[in-house]
Amino acid sequence: MKVQLKDVHKEFKKDDKQKLQVLNDINFDIKEGEFVSLLGPSGCGKSTILKLIAGLETTTAGEVLVNGKTVNKPGTDRIVVFQEGGLFPWMTVKENVSYGLNLKKLTKTEIEEKTMDGLRMVHLVNFADAYPHELSGGMKQRVAIARALVMDPDVLLMDEPFAALDEQTRLVLHKELQNIWRKTGNTILFITHNIREALTLSDRVLLMSTRPGKIKESFTVQSARPRDPADSVIVDLERRVMAELEIEMEKVLKEEFGDDYSLKADNLHSSDHRDMGSNI
Ligand SMILES: Nc1ncnc2c1ncn2[C@@H]1O[C@H](COP(=O)(O)OP(=O)(O)OP(=O)(O)O)[C@@H](O)[C@H]1O
Ligand SMILES: [Mg+2]
Repeated sequence: MKVQLKDVHKEFKKDDKQKLQVLNDINFDIKEGEFVSLLGPSGCGKSTILKLIAGLETTTAGEVLVNGKTVNKPGTDRIVVFQEGGLFPWMTVKENVSYGLNLKKLTKTEIEEKTMDGLRMVHLVNFADAYPHELSGGMKQRVAIARALVMDPDVLLMDEPFAALDEQTRLVLHKELQNIWRKTGNTILFITHNIREALTLSDRVLLMSTRPGKIKESFTVQSARPRDPADSVIVDLERRVMAELEIEMEKVLKEEFGDDYSLKADNLHSSDHRDMGSNI
C-alpha cells in the first residue's frame, strides 16, 4: 500500500478554549499507481488530508503512512501541485522546473536532462526560456505539473490543480495528465469540486461528508480509458455521486442559512442533470 490513513483525526485550535474538529476517523488506502480523487463540500477537510499526507500538517490522532513509514514532515517522495501553480515569477520556465532538482544530489547534465524530459511531457520545450508572465494559465499549470514530475515523486498530490482554468484548457490537461500518469505510473491523490473531472480521471472517487469530514462513500470507476463522459457508467455514477453530494451540501447550507433552507427549492441548478454534475 502506497498511502494509508489510519483512524486520522484533526483538530485546529480556534482560540484558547475552542477547537475546530476538521477530520473525524478517516481511514483509507491508496494503492501503488492508483489514481484516487477526493470530492466533498467546501470546508470538509480535503486540503487538510492532502497536507497531512504531504507532511505540511500533523494529525491530532491516528497515523498517515507512505510506503509503510509514518509521515511526520515533508519529503521529496510526496510533491504537491496547488490550484495556482506557485511558480517563481523571476525565474524562467526551465529554472522553475529544475528548482527542486538542484536540491537533490545530481550532476548538471542530469538536471538538464530531467528538466527537458519534464518539459517534453507537458509540451513546453519551446517555452523553456519564457517567464511565467508570458504564459497562459493552462501553460503555467503545465509548468507546475512538470516541476512536480521531474522530482519523480512516489505520490503526486494535486489540490484542485485545474480549478482556475477554462473548460477547454482543462480538457487538454486531463488528456495530458492521463498520458503522463500512464507513462510514469505515479500514485495520485487529486482533489476537485468537479464530479465529472473526478470520474473521468480516477480509478476511485472518495466522497467526503460535511465537517467534521469523514469518508462517506467510495466509488470505483470501472470504465475503460480513454473515458467518454457520455459513457453510461460515468453518467450513472455522476448521478449517484451528485445525489450524495447534494445531501452534504444541503447540510452545509443549512448550517449557514438556517434550517428552512433547501437546495432543491432554491433551484440553484439547471434542470439538465449532466450540467448539475459538472461543477459543485
Ligand atoms: N491552519 C488552519 N488553522 C485553522 N483552521 C484551519 C486551518 N486549515 C484549515 N482550517 C479549517 O479546516 C476546515 C477544512 O479546511 P480545508 O481547507 O481542509 O477544506 P477543503 O475541504 O479543502 O475546502 P475547499 O473545498 O473550500 O478547498 C475549514 O473549516 C478551515 O477553516
Ligand atoms: Mg481545499
